[in-house]
Amino acid sequence: MKGIVFTEFLELVEDKFGLEMVDKIISSSDLESNGVYTSVGTYSFSEMLQLLQHLSKNTGLSIDNLLLVYAEHFFSVLEDSYPGLLATYNDPIEMISSIENHIHVEVRKIYPDAELPTFEVLEKTQNSLVMIYTSSRAMHHFGLGLMNKTFEHFNSTANIVLEKIKEDGTEVKFIITKN
Ligand code: HEM
Repeated sequence: MKGIVFTEFLELVEDKFGLEMVDKIISSSDLESNGVYTSVGTYSFSEMLQLLQHLSKNTGLSIDNLLLVYAEHFFSVLEDSYPGLLATYNDPIEMISSIENHIHVEVRKIYPDAELPTFEVLEKTQNSLVMIYTSSRAMHHFGLGLMNKTFEHFNSTANIVLEKIKEDGTEVKFIITKN
């Protein structure tokens, strides 16, 4: 997992819960990095999982909820870091249906070792989209947060329903209807 995901995550934790919480979740985790991250480095996903689990335990918020809030913050990082990529689009359905064959393809050119999910488009109309998310990391709520913000970016909103295909969240159907 890319370092920028860790550095932005810990910054958000510090903002929302304070530096003590950052120290607490790092020191209670068993981290190969020792909790020292650079935005260009690459770290094991298990480190993110441990940080999330300890944050969840200490705040009482679910991991899904934490990932949702984190993704909403991460979208603004993407807006600032990749303005050109976002400027290619003028419609949220077009953008979200292009993650697999355009956006993440470009991401992989920048970071060949990125750990990305797959999104398979099952149905697409002007106002709706059905996609299957697949990833061993089960970060579907991170996807949900990015989708919410994608609609907001285009001054729009949507109703997004998640249906787990696999109980562990590694395969999830997204049913998206633009309002
Ligand atoms: C992960 C880039 C848009 C869904 C990531 C990662 C990067 C990235 C750098 C981390 C990879 C790693 O840690 O190895 C981008 C850029 C985007 C974009 C530059 C737009 C300009 C989106 C959108 C979605 C999305 C709109 C909405 C569905 C995800 C998910 C992950 C991810 C769910 C977590 C990894 C996983 O589930 O396996 N993306 N992304 N991305 N991205 Fe994107």
